Parts: sequence; structure tokens; C-alpha cells
Amino acid sequence: MTALETITNEHRLIRRYLDNMEVATDFVHEGEQMTEELFNLFMDFSKSFLDSFHHFKEEYVLFLKLAEKKGGAIDPQIVSLRDQHERGRNFLKEIHRALPGYLNKEEAASAKLCENMGYFVLLQKQHLNRENHVFIPMARDVFSESELQTFAEEFEKQDVKLGGDVFKKSEQQVDRIAELMKEQFGARYRDKLEFLHKTRAHNE
Ligand SMILES: [Fe+2]
Ligand SMILES: [Fe+2]
Repeated sequence: MTALETITNEHRLIRRYLDNMEVATDFVHEGEQMTEELFNLFMDFSKSFLDSFHHFKEEYVLFLKLAEKKGGAIDPQIVSLRDQHERGRNFLKEIHRALPGYLNKEEAASAKLCENMGYFVLLQKQHLNRENHVFIPMARDVFSESELQTFAEEFEKQDVKLGGDVFKKSEQQVDRIAELMKEQFGARYRDKLEFLHKTRAHNE
């Protein structure tokens, strides 16, 4: 897999994760109580996959090299993408903070949780679209095969450093998230997810 295919592939998993979080946000909004296990999975994925694994590739390899290549011309765009990563992390901190209150059925904490989950999903979806439609095509244009090969090697090193198999483990986390919601909500879960997919097909 080339470095850019790796990124695109990871974006697909992130999209699945976000769809599930969007459905979960909807359930919180409807006053449903979901399990701590489910939220732990949401938080773990964001920490181990988004931050340590995926954002590393972008911030420390691709963004950096792309900025160098473009000699400052796209610095504001890179800063803004980085800033979105940071804002995402802040929303996750808020989600983490509101979680005990939500699990304790406190109304204010549930509202806070729902609000921050909504912001997070919205921001991340917009971020993914920018990366997929602007950043990746730009990278495809400017990097040579051998440069991309070097990036792929950097990615591989990071994977090994994190214990290997990060993608597979994270995929299993998203599978488990989907399974838990399916178990709890059945057809309501499937309908909401289907609605998201249809809306997306319509918009894109
Ligand atoms: Fe990103
Ligand atoms: Fe990304």
C-alpha cells in the first residue's frame, strides 16, 4: 500500500467511526442511556488510532513535507488542518469530562456530552473532506514515488513502535462499537445509519 492509500484507507475507518458517533449522538439527544463500554471504545479509538497513529502520519510526515515542498505557500492551510486536530482533541476532553455525569443520568452533563459529540463529529467530517479532496490530491501531485515510499517506511516504523497491528485492532474497536449499538437499539440503529449513508450519497 502506498503512503496515500494508507491515509485514504484510514480515513475510511475514521468515517465509519464518525458515523457511529453521529448515531450515538442522536441517541444521547433522544435521552437514551448508553453503556460505559461503548464510550470507552469511542475514547480509546480516538486516542490510539486518531491521535497516536493517524495524526502522527499527517502532522509529522505528510503535512511537514508538503509544507517544505510548497515553500510556505500553503502554510496557512497546514496550520488550519493542524488546528482542527487540536480542536478535535479539545472536544474529546470535554466528552470525557461530561461522561461520568451522563452515566449518572445528570441532565446538564448529558446535554454537554451531546453538544461536544455533535461538534466533534461535525468538525471531523469537514476535516476528512478537506483532506480527501484538497490535501491528498495535492500530495499526489507534488511527491515522487520514492518520496512516498520513504513516507510509507516512516509509517511502518510508527506502527511497529505502537506495537504493530494498530489498524486491525482499531477496526475491531469500530466493529465492537457497531455491535454494541446494534444489540441495544436494533432496527433504530440500522435506520439511523442508513439515513446517514443515503444523505451522504445524495450530497457527494
Ligand atoms: Fe487530519
Ligand atoms: Fe486525516
